[in-house]
Amino acid sequence: MGMTIDSMNNPFFQQDILSSEQYTKDNLNILVKVSHQMKEVVEKHGSLDLLKGKLITALFYEPSSRTFASFVAAIQRLGGGFIPLQGITYSSVTKGETLEDTVRTFACYSDAVVIRHPEVGSAKKAAAASTVPVINAGDGVGEHPTQSLLDYYTIVERFGKIDGLTISMVGDLLNGRTIHSLIKLVSLYPSVKINLVSPEILKLPEVILDKIKKKVKIFVTDRLDSVIAKSDVVYVTRVQKERFTDLNLYEKLKHYYIVTPQLLKKAKKSTIIMHPLPRVGEISADVDSDPRSVYIKDQMRNGVYTRMALLSLILSRN
Ligand code: CP
Repeated sequence: MGMTIDSMNNPFFQQDILSSEQYTKDNLNILVKVSHQMKEVVEKHGSLDLLKGKLITALFYEPSSRTFASFVAAIQRLGGGFIPLQGITYSSVTKGETLEDTVRTFACYSDAVVIRHPEVGSAKKAAAASTVPVINAGDGVGEHPTQSLLDYYTIVERFGKIDGLTISMVGDLLNGRTIHSLIKLVSLYPSVKINLVSPEILKLPEVILDKIKKKVKIFVTDRLDSVIAKSDVVYVTRVQKERFTDLNLYEKLKHYYIVTPQLLKKAKKSTIIMHPLPRVGEISADVDSDPRSVYIKDQMRNGVYTRMALLSLILSRN
């Protein structure tokens, strides 16, 4: 690989990744460069052996397709091994084991633990108990800091920058952890403008809004059609059914926004349409072939490259 990062310049070595608040512009630059190198290596050679001899636990207590599989793909393309634990059915959690004891156990078996869990703060709790780095792969309605990396990389790959962009975040801003993480990350850039597009009841939590409105320009609306023409990025999210106690309310809200080819006639040619997926109808299938849609190929592939970059920086000194 062309660029090497020595231990002095590798801010990720042996670090936990719990929140997007940990990222700085400098360490994001490193991640973007290394992710790009990972992409080139995968495209040319398929794999490399940076994690040869390393084992990583994937401890997933909530359903996942993309995050779980892209971590597994990233580990295997780096020559590492993994211990998969999906769901609690086959785990000693069903016997009443605490999260801390489970994490202590897997920290003895492996060199890092990737955890998805339904409770906000669970990754932090796991990190406090662990002797190896812990990566938050989604803690309830809290954060999803590795998703925000792939989202950030996808935007930078397309525009070459974040500065000056207008980013519309759409849908379930209350419960969407991908939004909570990405918004913290893009608000590192003061010239970014963020449109928060949601029904009143699914507004971004005040605690996050208070932090970011001091840093960037925010516009709050429930009308996607009123902001789409000026958006460079339209980041659409699913209404998170699993966070609702009232399913009638969910049914009323689930298709509050549907991105259609008709709606996209208002958007610029250069606009990109993003979605962390899974989607359940908020982007119609006939939008997939629009060149502005990046949620299938770009975001998905970038999930592997950015997780390869992150794992290699955490687990190898140089
Ligand atoms: N984007 C994302 O977190 O997808 P999964 O829930 O399938 O991992």
